[in-house]
Amino acid sequence: MKSYTIASIPGDGIGKEVMPQGIRAIDMVADVCGFRVDWKPFDWSCETYHATGAMMPADGIDRLSQHDSIFLGAVGFPGVPDHISLWGLLIPIRREFDQYVNLRPVRLLPGVRSPLADKKPGDVDFWVVRENTEGEYSRIGGRTGAGDDEAVVQTAVFTRKGTDRILRYAFDLARRLGRLHVSSATKSNGLFYSMPFWDERFAAISAEYPEISADSHHIDIMAARFVMKPEQFDVVVGSNLFGDILSDLGPGCTGTIAVAPSANLNPERRYPSMFEPVHGSAPDIAGRGVANPIGQIWAGAMMLDHLGETEAATIVLSAMEEVLTAGQHLTPDLGGSSDTGAMGEAIAARIASR
Ligand code: NAI
Ligand code: MG
Repeated sequence: MKSYTIASIPGDGIGKEVMPQGIRAIDMVADVCGFRVDWKPFDWSCETYHATGAMMPADGIDRLSQHDSIFLGAVGFPGVPDHISLWGLLIPIRREFDQYVNLRPVRLLPGVRSPLADKKPGDVDFWVVRENTEGEYSRIGGRTGAGDDEAVVQTAVFTRKGTDRILRYAFDLARRLGRLHVSSATKSNGLFYSMPFWDERFAAISAEYPEISADSHHIDIMAARFVMKPEQFDVVVGSNLFGDILSDLGPGCTGTIAVAPSANLNPERRYPSMFEPVHGSAPDIAGRGVANPIGQIWAGAMMLDHLGETEAATIVLSAMEEVLTAGQHLTPDLGGSSDTGAMGEAIAARIASR
């Protein structure tokens, strides 16, 4: 029997509550499809930081490298500054494992109401490809001066290699999905060096894919178009910062970020990839058992897809959609009164009925 070794890091807040539901769905579909998952749990979190002064042990990356994939809940909680917790766990994993693609489907699911008037499933259905290892999220910069003379500098880094590979991934994805349109998020009217370079590389890479149409949008108008005309997008590619913002705005247009998944991919498979919901640890609802588990479960489906278990991934997605359509086991964010466990159980039961 085929088997996979997967590191699970529930992390903080609702990460701990939705992770068991993600695992339950995957274990169930593994039974149905005839493979095995060997889970290796890691309790690294802000609690680890309070206890040890670090978010993960010094050999953390080394230990994770032994796994086929990493399944993550959420990182960050009040009491530890976000730049410490995120840069202590999530960001090192993304960078050390060269997970340079952050891939996020934006899809209006059945049974979920979009805040955009009159949108139905099918109207909002595209992919955001975010650069995940460089760009605006750098540690280059510094602080000088004090008082009125205080100043900070934060430098963005766009390498040719880093830019070309993310753009190519977006075009390859469009080709693979048969969605032959790629839109680039830019801001070359404001950022003097980085975005003109980005546009130049986008034009060059786009020329390698003559069958795929390409267009560029300044990030500000692109944000407006996500809301006004989401139908026009198939694959959207953006830098680390622009992609980050768009990949929450997109799911926001589909009703709730709670259902949105995200894959941090090392496409060459030299290192494990990591799968996580888009949402964070939601301190405002943590501990109450009411978090929507779909983002975690859908991230699990993306992981199965990446591992080559495409049938299992499809079964999980359909089970999710069936539970949403039936509308009987919904968490409060979707207007229901079920708890996290009940919704996860309903999805697992649908999977089992295959
Ligand atoms: P958040 O995603 O945790 O919460 C935003 C809002 O959405 C809250 O009102 C929350 O209750 C709601 N929400 C999120 N997930 C939900 C779910 N599954 N079911 C129902 N409602 C849900 O974002 P926020 O508040 O900006 O960040 C909280 C912490 O999480 C911070 O420490 C932040 O740095 C961290 N974070 C971590 C991420 C990660 O691990 N990849 C991503 C985003 C934030
Ligand atoms: Mg984000």
